[in-house]
Amino acid sequence: MICSTTARRNRQTHPMAELKGTEKQRYVADLFARISGRYDLMNDLMTLGMHRGWKRKTAAVAAQGLNGPAIDVSSGTGDLALALAGRPEIHRTVGLDLLPEMVVKANEKIQGRGFATPITMVTGDALSLPFGDNSFVCATAGFSLRNMPDVEKALAEMVRVVHPGGRVAILELTPMPKGVRSLLFRPLFHGVVPIIGKLVAGNRSAYSYLPQSVDHFMDADGLAELLKGLGLSGVQYRRLGFGTVALHWGEKSAANLDR
Ligand SMILES: C[S@@+](CC[C@H](N)C(=O)[O-])C[C@H]1O[C@@H](n2cnc3c(N)ncnc32)[C@H](O)[C@@H]1O
Repeated sequence: MICSTTARRNRQTHPMAELKGTEKQRYVADLFARISGRYDLMNDLMTLGMHRGWKRKTAAVAAQGLNGPAIDVSSGTGDLALALAGRPEIHRTVGLDLLPEMVVKANEKIQGRGFATPITMVTGDALSLPFGDNSFVCATAGFSLRNMPDVEKALAEMVRVVHPGGRVAILELTPMPKGVRSLLFRPLFHGVVPIIGKLVAGNRSAYSYLPQSVDHFMDADGLAELLKGLGLSGVQYRRLGFGTVALHWGEKSAANLDR
């Protein structure tokens, strides 16, 4: 009985969901390069378009009451960077992603819309941001921390480039607490999403990895603790998307100058 339960669990675990370090980074880069062309369409289908509102909320929470430049880390096709650029508080926006394929897509999107303030998309690694300390008033990351080979390092980099009094905001899928909602959403995530991934993006494996990567990610309280441990103050979060998504934010205090 124990053996068959273990075998069943093993069958359900995506072979890549437990990868770490450079192996994970290589897998993630290959995955997103393959699906970059259908990435936006998949997001719209999987969330019924709700991801756009979540990204606007993230930009609002990040920028509120501040004044100056912003960075969106692992920006993908640039939705969050565009949401930041649309905020009256933000004068200049940088979107950074590891993959040139994503930067190309983001630039196509930016060119199609008129923005009063400049947006620059750059390739770069979230684990080693090519910017000096205290360069931005706020930093955001959407649906990317799960994919990082070193989550703490990625967050520490976001904190580093934000100036004291500035804000870090994280939008991320989050493991759901056990309960009725989780019973409803689990089959959707693990069963339906990979099928849509196969039909629309031609890549079932990438969209089997997605729910598995959520299962392997820390819960919302754990992420809040990590942010506090990195020196952010006033850390809070709210759940979105029926509890499937968490939006965390916190402020960099003056004490962070010594970090
Ligand atoms: C799920 S997508 C999220 C894209 C976008 N933020 C959004 O909300 O739609 C994850 C993105 O993280 C990027 N990424 C993964 N590892 C990265 C790293 N080490 N540095 C920068 N970007 C990275 C991928 O290329 C991909 O575009």
